[in-house]
Amino acid sequence: MMPPAGWMNDPNGLIHFQGVYHLFYQHDPYQSKQGPMHWGHATSRDLVHWEHQPVALAPSEGYDCGPSGGQGCWSGSAVDDNGKLTLIYTGHVDGRTPEEAQCLAVSDDGVTFHKPDDNPVIGDSPDRERFGFRDPKVWKRGDRWHMVVGYGKDGRGQAILYTSSDLRKWEYRGPVLESDGTMGDMWECPDLFPIVEEDNHALIISPMNTGSYKNLYVTGTFDYEGCVFHRKLADQIDYGFDFYAPQTLLDDQGRRIMIAWMNIWGAKMPEQAHGWYGAMTLPRELTLAEDGTLRSRPVKELETLRGEKLSAAGITLADGSLQSVSGVEGQSIELIARFDPEGASEVGLRIFGSPDGKAFAEIRYTADEGKLSMDRTLATEGDGGVSAAPLALLEDGTIELRLFLDRSSVELFAGEGRVAMTNRIYCAREQTGIAFFARGGNARLVSLDAWKLRSIW
Ligand code: FRU
Repeated sequence: MMPPAGWMNDPNGLIHFQGVYHLFYQHDPYQSKQGPMHWGHATSRDLVHWEHQPVALAPSEGYDCGPSGGQGCWSGSAVDDNGKLTLIYTGHVDGRTPEEAQCLAVSDDGVTFHKPDDNPVIGDSPDRERFGFRDPKVWKRGDRWHMVVGYGKDGRGQAILYTSSDLRKWEYRGPVLESDGTMGDMWECPDLFPIVEEDNHALIISPMNTGSYKNLYVTGTFDYEGCVFHRKLADQIDYGFDFYAPQTLLDDQGRRIMIAWMNIWGAKMPEQAHGWYGAMTLPRELTLAEDGTLRSRPVKELETLRGEKLSAAGITLADGSLQSVSGVEGQSIELIARFDPEGASEVGLRIFGSPDGKAFAEIRYTADEGKLSMDRTLATEGDGGVSAAPLALLEDGTIELRLFLDRSSVELFAGEGRVAMTNRIYCAREQTGIAFFARGGNARLVSLDAWKLRSIW
């Protein structure tokens, strides 16, 4: 999903409402850079084909509109309030005191929204000595609404909790979790949700100023009475450079589905020159594994994009060689490749290869480090760099990589949902080469299935 024009960042208000998936997003319809924030809106019945809807929210009131600088209807979520699609967002106005407040917008038809007079419904943060107070995510448990808000206090990111019976009057309950000192100084876009059985929960955050990573999940149990999250483990939910502000929804099949902004603040943004910026990741289904790790896999519906199929099996990858598979090429393709590293120290594939072989991006598994990396240094007019994740071999000693390429978007999945890696790679049209390799010994491409992605336009 991309904006029809202009700027896009975070997904907002993800909800499956009366049979339709709604995806709102941070949007400036008038320019390809961040400006006064609106909420763009798209809907889908299958998570694959999206239809643009009129802009849902625009800055208009004292609490969400200012003369200049950062302002507007910042990130938030959506709920079904007795059949009324209701948005909860942060009104942000640079220089106003307080700068950030939580607000509602209500719709009768799912398309047009109005801001009630009760706004802002949470006018100020519990404490003025804080760094950020934004991005409310609301859910219902029993007959009570719960809201987590992103916060920072004394150099530590926090997710703080409010509860309400009517979405209008909110009671502050305290921090549900805070950084242990290594998890950033402000947690943007927190999302707290039950997964599998009721008291198992996951908290997803976009921490600021960690230095190295830009997203994190924490699994554990949530004690609603005491409002405390008991942490089991924490890890990255995506190891790529271009994955931020993920949000989830629960659909009518009981699936927990996550979509993130497929970009990152501060990156080179080549498409701005063409009047737009921003894309969403593919929707991913989240599950909780027995070991407490959160797994993410592309939703099943994406298989409807599969066009012509090409398969191969049992190909020996000789040490130092680069091997292509007839017909497997292009910039819009899904691949599932299973490798047996055998004696090789590195095995993987090159994508976006130029005809002269000088430009390419490389996805490689490094056996002695148990590491999966994506190196885009030689491929792109955007940012370079190598992203990496720990990856264990499957029980049978192989690794399976599932890869979606769609022009500048690259989404890689491995390790039975444990590893996801999302990167933007901006390369020339003629960089369509795909080739497999092994180094430091021979390896085997056990099987390969590739599908040209069908155009949905
Ligand atoms: C995250 C974020 C949010 C904020 C929004 C503004 O990318 O900074 O914290 O609400 O973007 O567009």
